Amino acid sequence: MLDTGLAGRVCLVTGAANGIGRATAELLAAQDAELVLCDNDADALAALPLEGLKVLADLSRRDEVERLFGELAGRLDVLIHCAGIYRIAPLPEVTDAEWDQVLDVNLRSSYLLCQGAVELMRTHGDGRIVLFGSFAARTGGLRAGVPYAASKAGVEGIARHVAQYAGPLGIRVNCLHPGFTVTPMTSILNEAARAEAAARTPLGRGCGPEEQAAMAVVLASDLASFVHGATLDVNGGMYMA
Ligand SMILES: NC(=O)c1ccc[n+]([C@@H]2O[C@H](COP(=O)([O-])OP(=O)(O)OC[C@H]3O[C@@H](n4cnc5c(N)ncnc54)[C@H](O)[C@@H]3O)[C@@H](O)[C@H]2O)c1
Repeated sequence: MLDTGLAGRVCLVTGAANGIGRATAELLAAQDAELVLCDNDADALAALPLEGLKVLADLSRRDEVERLFGELAGRLDVLIHCAGIYRIAPLPEVTDAEWDQVLDVNLRSSYLLCQGAVELMRTHGDGRIVLFGSFAARTGGLRAGVPYAASKAGVEGIARHVAQYAGPLGIRVNCLHPGFTVTPMTSILNEAARAEAAARTPLGRGCGPEEQAAMAVVLASDLASFVHGATLDVNGGMYMA
C-alpha cells in the first residue's frame, strides 16, 4: 500500500463542514491524521461525525483566523483550505458589497491562512499547503461571476508567491483548480445549468467531492514530495492547460 505519511500529522481543513472540505477531512481521518476542522457553519460543523478539534470561525476576518491558529497548540503540518463562496450575477448586476464579500472569503482568507500557517510550519521546517482555486480562474468563469473568477485567479497567485517564499523553509505549496463538482455550493444551479456543465466536460459528468479530496490529500502527502508551486486542474478535461 502507498504510504501518504499523514498518520499523526496535524491537518487543518477549512470548509470542513460541507462538500469538498468534508470529503477531504474524511479522507484524512482514514489516514489517521490529527484533524482540525474549521468552518463558519455552526450546525454542520457540530454535526460532523469526525474526531478532532472543531473551530467555528469566519476565515475572512483576521481576528478569527488568529483565534483559530491560537487553538493549534503550536504545531501545524498540513493546511488544506477549501472554504469558499460563490455568488452568481452577470457583470452589470455585481455590487461592490458582493465583490468585497467574495474577495474577502475566497482571497483574503487564503492570504491570512498562509501567513499564519507558514509561521507555525517554519518552526519545524516542514509543512504542506493546498489552496483551492477554480476552473473559473482558467476560463474566466462567465457563469460564476467576476468576483469569483478574480478571487480564484488571485488564489493561484498567492499559492505561487507563498511557494517561492516558503519553499526554502521546507514548506510545499500547491493550488488545485476543481472543475464542476456536486456539492452544496453547486446545488444552487438548476438542472439545465448542471447538465450544461457536464456537457462541457469531456468526461461527460460532474465530479464527486471525494474525487477532489483525493487529489488535495495526495498533494499534501509524502507522495507529492517534489510537487511544489504547481496548479493541478481536476476538471474532467473541461479546461486543458
Ligand atoms: N463545487 C464546485 O463545483 C467547485 C468548482 C471549483 C472550485 N470550487 C472550490 O472548492 C472549494 C470547496 O467548494 P465546495 O463545493 O465544497 O463548497 P461548499 O459550499 O459545499 O463548502 C464550502 C464550505 O466553506 C464554508 N465557508 C464559507 N464561507 C466561510 C467563511 N467565511 N469562513 C469559514 N468557512 C466558510 C461553508 O460553510 C462550507 O461548509 C471552494 O473554495 C470552491 O470555490 C468548487
